[in-house]
Amino acid sequence: METPHQGTASATEQGRRSYVMMLTLIAALGGLLFGYDTAVISGAIGFLRTHFGLSAAETGWAASSALVGCIVGAGFAGEISDAFGRRKALMLAAVLFTISGVWSAIPATITEFNIARIIGGVGVGMASLLSPLYISEISPAAIRGRLVSYNQLAIVSGILVVYFANYFIAGLGDEAWNTARGWRWMFGSEAIPATIFFFTLFAIPESPRWLVKQNQAGRAEVVLTRIGGPTQAAAELRAIRETINEEAGKLGDLFRPPLRRAMIIGIILAILQQITGINVFMYYAPEIFKGLGAGTDIALLQTVIIGIFNVTFTLLAIRTVDRLGRKPLLIIGATGMGISLTGLGIAAAIGSTAAWVLVFILGYIACFAMSLGPVVWVVIAEIFPTKIRGRAMAIATLLLWTANYAISQTFPIINEDPWLVATFHHAFPFWLYAVFCVIMVIFVRRVVPETKGKSLEEIERFWSKR
Ligand code: BGC
Repeated sequence: METPHQGTASATEQGRRSYVMMLTLIAALGGLLFGYDTAVISGAIGFLRTHFGLSAAETGWAASSALVGCIVGAGFAGEISDAFGRRKALMLAAVLFTISGVWSAIPATITEFNIARIIGGVGVGMASLLSPLYISEISPAAIRGRLVSYNQLAIVSGILVVYFANYFIAGLGDEAWNTARGWRWMFGSEAIPATIFFFTLFAIPESPRWLVKQNQAGRAEVVLTRIGGPTQAAAELRAIRETINEEAGKLGDLFRPPLRRAMIIGIILAILQQITGINVFMYYAPEIFKGLGAGTDIALLQTVIIGIFNVTFTLLAIRTVDRLGRKPLLIIGATGMGISLTGLGIAAAIGSTAAWVLVFILGYIACFAMSLGPVVWVVIAEIFPTKIRGRAMAIATLLLWTANYAISQTFPIINEDPWLVATFHHAFPFWLYAVFCVIMVIFVRRVVPETKGKSLEEIERFWSKR
């Protein structure tokens, strides 16, 4: 039987868990906006093109201008968050999202539109780094993987929500209305979650690890106590202080042993997350389906199914990442992605449009969603030392966005290159991404350490012990 004392203890435990969960969900709104902002273009680009009378090259730029902003945002978010705090940096991202949402709905020219999108992209780049960073710094070690994976759940939910929002808005009028106004609502709707994000950020505290770095141990202890109770807080504070005192904190240290290894792991995982091809499916899915013979309606429906798979299998990662660990998920996921891509390539090579093409695509998405999607963000948010975590993560994230840009820009080119098409019948890009999946499996097995269940301070000590 439960004694009254145990009852109170578990009620307190419950309260702490709810508190950490609330902080996680608020920070994860940054992930939601990341998904929303990157995918909104898919439903709007056609109308935008007609409205402004864009050429093919101008259309490509309008679709990808935000990505350039992402690279810039990821580049300086680390510096800002190390200097001014994680929370203030998140607030800046929220402001940029709001400005971009409003301005991209009312531009007079396509240049204005692109500037507004770049501003939003800077917000995405910042949030892509800051949300997992913040969550990893407030999480108890035992559930850190799960909590950071909620950010990925928010990203894929944002993508799914915007698919529906676009679909709903497009249904409000005819082609002429959509060309004149519909696309404006698609972009403008982003201002709603962006404003909510901004105001809810007032309800979260600054990251305790950042506070210790700023010599504000008293404030850090208050936050740690709310998260883990007084005993746990005292122990954690001690560990954070010790490791921070040992840290050098100069950017150059990331390129010398012992931290060089962490930096290489962060960079390679970030690049491999992208060059295994995920955003080819995220950004071009309807086109791929149409290329395989589907009509527009079916293509859009299949795209929604992709979104649903992405969300569902991210939930699987959330359940398993702290139990199975980061490495098994990455290895299983990358293997499944490689097999699916090989199958897809074979289907493309023999010109098959049968239903199993969809099976391969969904298999690929499921495997990404349960592994590389969440786990790469988890790992790059936990493997660097506190003093330079923001700046180190910025290097990895900046390269992640650059790789994203490179893959999404080159896919149409390599998919239509006459020689490649004659030789591989559209299979080339898929087989290329499959090769990178093999590299991912080998790299994770040989080089990446398992970090499940370890506190951020234990991970830090692991590098210096090596
Ligand atoms: C990746 C994004 C991708 C998203 C889709 C994220 O982890 O970083 O590039 O669009 O997952 O699931």
